[in-house]
Amino acid sequence: MTTSIAQPYPTAYEQIAKSTIESGFTMASDVLTCSLLRTLASTKPSGRFLELGTGTGLSTSWILDGMDSDSKFISVDNDSKLLAIAASNLGHDKRLSLVNEDGGDWIKENTHLKFDYIFADTWSGKYFFLNETLALLKCGSLYIIDDMLSQPNWPEGHADKVSKLVSALEKRTDLTITKQNWATGIIIATKKVMTTNFLMNNN
Ligand SMILES: C[S@@+](CC[C@H](N)C(=O)[O-])C[C@H]1O[C@@H](n2cnc3c(N)ncnc32)[C@H](O)[C@@H]1O
Repeated sequence: MTTSIAQPYPTAYEQIAKSTIESGFTMASDVLTCSLLRTLASTKPSGRFLELGTGTGLSTSWILDGMDSDSKFISVDNDSKLLAIAASNLGHDKRLSLVNEDGGDWIKENTHLKFDYIFADTWSGKYFFLNETLALLKCGSLYIIDDMLSQPNWPEGHADKVSKLVSALEKRTDLTITKQNWATGIIIATKKVMTTNFLMNNN
C-alpha cells in the first residue's frame, strides 16, 4: 500500500524518465516522493511554487500535475543539459518558468519573493542559504526536502550535514515539522501563521 501509487502519472513523466536514463543523470527524485509532491501541490490553489534543483524535470512534472491553472512555478537548476530535457517536455506549460542559474545566486537575488510551496532539492535551499530560503515562505506555506535517510553512497561527512540540517529545522520556532521514514526520508515543514500570541512569545 505504501509503495504503490495506483493513480495516473503526469503525461510527460514517462518521456522525461526515459530521457533521464539516456542522459545518465543519477540524482533523479524517486517516484514516491514525486507522488507526495503532487498531493501537497494540490493543497495550494492559486499558489506560488518554487523548486530548487530541477534536474531533468521529473519532480517538476508531478508538482505541475498537482497545481491548478492559476498557480505559477519557478524551478531553478545550474545544469543546462538537464534543463533542456525539462524544457522539451514541460516548456509549453505557461505556469512554469525554468531558470538556468546557480541556486544560491538566485536565492540572493530574489529575497523579495514569497512562496506557498518550496521543494528544495539541491544544496542551495537546504545545506546552504537555509535561512534565506525559509524567509521566502508565506505563512501557512510548505517547505519540503527529501533524501534525509542514510544511503550507502553518501560521501564521508554527509550524514553530519543532514543531522545539522534536521537540527536547524527542529529549532525553528516559526516552523512545524514532520520527519517521515518513507521513500528517501522526507521532511515537511509548514510556516506557522503568525498570531499575536506567537509574536508576543517569540520576541
Ligand atoms: C537531486 S537533483 C534534483 C532532482 C530533480 N528534482 C528530480 O526530480 O529528478 C539536484 C539538482 O541540483 C542541481 N544543482 C547542483 N548544484 C546546483 C547549484 N549550485 N545551483 C543550482 N542547481 C544545482 C543539479 O544539476 C541537479 O539537477
